[in-house]
Amino acid sequence: MFHHISVLPEETIKGLITNKAGIYVDCTLGGGGHSGRIASVLDTSGRIIGIDQDAAAISAASEYLKDAGCRIDIVRDNFRNLGAILQEQKVAKVDGVLFDLGVSSYQIDTPERGFSYMQDAPLDMRMDPEAALSAYVVVNTYEEEALARIFKEYGEERWAKRIAAFILETRSQKPVETTGELVDIICRAVPAAVRHGAGGHPAKRVFQAIRIEVNNELGILEKSFRTAVEYLKPGGRIAIITFHSLEDRIAKNTLREMARGCICPPQLPICVCHHKPEIRLLGKPIVAAPQELAGNSRAKSAKLRIAEKLAGGGKADAGQT
Ligand SMILES: C[S@@+](CC[C@H](N)C(=O)[O-])C[C@H]1O[C@@H](n2cnc3c(N)ncnc32)[C@H](O)[C@@H]1O
Repeated sequence: MFHHISVLPEETIKGLITNKAGIYVDCTLGGGGHSGRIASVLDTSGRIIGIDQDAAAISAASEYLKDAGCRIDIVRDNFRNLGAILQEQKVAKVDGVLFDLGVSSYQIDTPERGFSYMQDAPLDMRMDPEAALSAYVVVNTYEEEALARIFKEYGEERWAKRIAAFILETRSQKPVETTGELVDIICRAVPAAVRHGAGGHPAKRVFQAIRIEVNNELGILEKSFRTAVEYLKPGGRIAIITFHSLEDRIAKNTLREMARGCICPPQLPICVCHHKPEIRLLGKPIVAAPQELAGNSRAKSAKLRIAEKLAGGGKADAGQT
């Protein structure tokens, strides 16, 4: 069974939907939780395009949304291909785009997907099970320096170098095959105080880092957010839910940049770019209320950012200097 509780459900729908007959894109369909709520607000002429790269999510969402009261088109793809997907769907402009980033509870809780440091399973961590790069490939073939960099950058892991060295030492004897073996190596590499300290499971940060690397989770975000805004109608909305500081920083900086007017270098006395803001940021990031946190611990780190497309934003009009 596909188990996943959608985070910030009311806040997302309230911020995203401006037109009950509009077209909405859910870039991270998962089990269809958010899409189901969007569908319940749209009228029969509304439409949802749901995207996910995971076949298990596609089949769960297809079943969950089969009685929705509006048109639903489900596409198995990576949202980094959003522009091509919308062209394929013959859609020129949309009213809203949602990104609810990261993995679903279903993916984490399914041991054989290899996302969890709590269950022993083959090292995998691919959101798209047909992708070439898996956690096994990362752990068993990356150079020591590359592993240390990934653990540091994507996991903010203090013991990155030591853990990378212990992996190299272990795999010189035999490949690291399972999540359990990787957890053992991490536990041997970090000091006892970290192993038993209050900072959470000692493998948490390394597992996050490998997952980000395997799925290129950060590398595709900025371009995908920009494509989403490009396809919005004026007045349309983009909603982004992030779960850790690395992806939230990209969301914040990309939205801020698109919300800027003049982009001339600061030393120029007058504006020569005539660049206009493409979007308007709507309020501060929204976090989960205590009632939601009581029923869904995943919501603890969630942040929802919403912005609205402005008319005539972006580059200067032709003819302007
Ligand atoms: C947090 S879950 C979404 C849950 C969903 N909003 C719900 O309420 O049921 C994230 C989903 O996005 C998918 N996903 C993550 N990154 C993706 C990408 N780059 N392209 C397509 N799907 C992606 C994952 O496979 C996962 O199913």
